Amino acid sequence: MPEALELLKTRTSPKAQDLIEPAPNESQLNEILTIAARVPDHGMMKPWRFVVLPKATRGPIVDKITANFRAGNPNASDAEVEKQRARFGGSPLIVTVIAKISPNPKVPDVEQLLSAGAACMNLLNAAHALGFAANWLTGWAAFDKSSGAVFGLAANEQIVGFIHIGTAKGELFQRPRPDMAQIVSRL
Ligand SMILES: Cc1cc2nc3c(=O)[nH]c(=O)nc-3n(C[C@H](O)[C@H](O)[C@H](O)COP(=O)(O)O)c2cc1C
Repeated sequence: MPEALELLKTRTSPKAQDLIEPAPNESQLNEILTIAARVPDHGMMKPWRFVVLPKATRGPIVDKITANFRAGNPNASDAEVEKQRARFGGSPLIVTVIAKISPNPKVPDVEQLLSAGAACMNLLNAAHALGFAANWLTGWAAFDKSSGAVFGLAANEQIVGFIHIGTAKGELFQRPRPDMAQIVSRL
C-alpha cells in the first residue's frame, strides 16, 4: 500500500494529556503549517489563520483563559477551573486555528468555515506523517467571547480548533471506526 494511504488509514488521536515531548521543531512546524494552508479554498479567500502556542511561552495565555473561565463561571469548583488550565498547560505544542468569515456572494459562509475545518484536518495528517500525534479540541475557550481579546480575534473570526501536537505516550488507543455499510449508499 502506498505510504500516503497507510498514513491516512492509521491516523488516530491520543488524549491531549497523553501527548509528550518531543514536539515538532521549527522546520517541522513550518512544514505542518504550510500543509495546513494547502486546503481547498473557494475564491482564494484564505479564511483561516494559525496562532502557535509553544509550551514554553504559553503560560500567560493559559493564565488569561483560566481567569476568564473563573470569571465567566463563578460557581465552578477549583477542580473545574484547574481542569481548564490543565487542558492547555500540558501539550507540547498547540496550534490555534481561527476561521475568518467574510461576506462573499460567491462563497457562502459555510464554505469558508469548512475550509478552516480542512486546515485543521491537514494539521492532524501532516503531524502524523512526520511521526507526531495530534488531537483536535475545541471546548469552552474556543467558544466563549472572552477568548476574542486573548487571541486578538476580529469580529468575523472564530476559533475552530486547538490542535494539540506532540508525541504519543504509549500505545495509541484504536477507537472503533464506522461500519461503512451504514454510511455509504449509492443512488
Ligand atoms: C471540531 C471538533 C472539535 C472537537 N473538540 C473536542 C473536544 O473539545 N474534546 C474532545 O474530547 N474531543 C473533541 N473532538 C474529538 C477529537 O478531536 C478526536 O477526533 C476524537 O477524540 C478521536 O478521533 P480520531 O482518533 O479519529 O482523531 C473534536 C472533534 C472535532 C472535529
